[in-house]
Amino acid sequence: MKVEPTFLYAPAGAKLGEPFRAFEFSDADFQRLQRMIYDLAGISLNEGKKAMAYSRLTKRIRALHVQNFAEYLDYVERDTGEEKVKFINALTTNLTYFFREPHHFPMLTDHLLTYPKDEPLTLWSAACSTGEEPYSMAMSIIDAFGTDRPPVKIIASDLDSDVLATAAKGVYPLEKIDALDRATLKRFFLKGAGDQMGFARVRPQVQRLVEFRQINLVDPPWNIEGPLAAIFCRNVMIYFNKQTQRAILERFAPLLKPNGLLFAGHSENFFYNARDMFNIRGKTVYELAA
Ligand SMILES: C[S@@+](CC[C@H](N)C(=O)[O-])C[C@H]1O[C@@H](n2cnc3c(N)ncnc32)[C@H](O)[C@@H]1O
Repeated sequence: MKVEPTFLYAPAGAKLGEPFRAFEFSDADFQRLQRMIYDLAGISLNEGKKAMAYSRLTKRIRALHVQNFAEYLDYVERDTGEEKVKFINALTTNLTYFFREPHHFPMLTDHLLTYPKDEPLTLWSAACSTGEEPYSMAMSIIDAFGTDRPPVKIIASDLDSDVLATAAKGVYPLEKIDALDRATLKRFFLKGAGDQMGFARVRPQVQRLVEFRQINLVDPPWNIEGPLAAIFCRNVMIYFNKQTQRAILERFAPLLKPNGLLFAGHSENFFYNARDMFNIRGKTVYELAA
């Protein structure tokens, strides 16, 4: 068989040794993008994220038929509608799963059971992504309180409108729940049939406890009514710099009940930054300093 040679042409100005890119994306474009995502979402994207930013945003560049990143960033800056949201959604990292950092859930329920039995309690999952975190909280609470109607409301919020839409549906591919034990699956999920084959839905008694809202943590005031028995703010602070983290913690503290708890992500050690406000209660769980 005769094989025809194929040639790839790099765009004008491409440097030897740089990855081939269909759309021009200079270091200056990346620095501008870093400033924009910081201003819009408080996210500090480091140098190592240039390839990630390129691959996530080329879809938007194609959809809008702009020529390169400089034009795309102009478009985002001028935009008064949806594109700023799409830009943010593309650059956020939404990885999450059910019962992530599992030691937090018994700590949460033990804490909630210290309140008088019928006291209404409000909790906040402050960067809930596609919903696995607040639904895991709800399942643990139903289990610990021994009723489908515990006196608990979970406000679940995120900046990204796409993940919130998925969260509110409460429908997940089976792969996302296959690590859960059979009892949890049976009790809290409905397996899809027909055109829902391969998916499972969170049962209504779990969904009923969770209320989704769009909230940007770096854009107060927040639409949150305290006092809160607990805040889950996990695996999002890592994207913010120290000043932003501190500003958020300063707003969390007065929202908590005096004995309320703050749950952080496994690699978030920002409390060196806030020892005057929080003490460590357990593994990445914090309480208000006296
Ligand atoms: C890695 S996920 C963490 C999800 C969940 N908390 C967990 O630990 O599994 C980070 C989430 O933070 C959200 N996020 C990023 N910047 C945000 C901001 N400024 N305000 C609110 N949410 C933000 C992202 O959209 C994303 O869904």
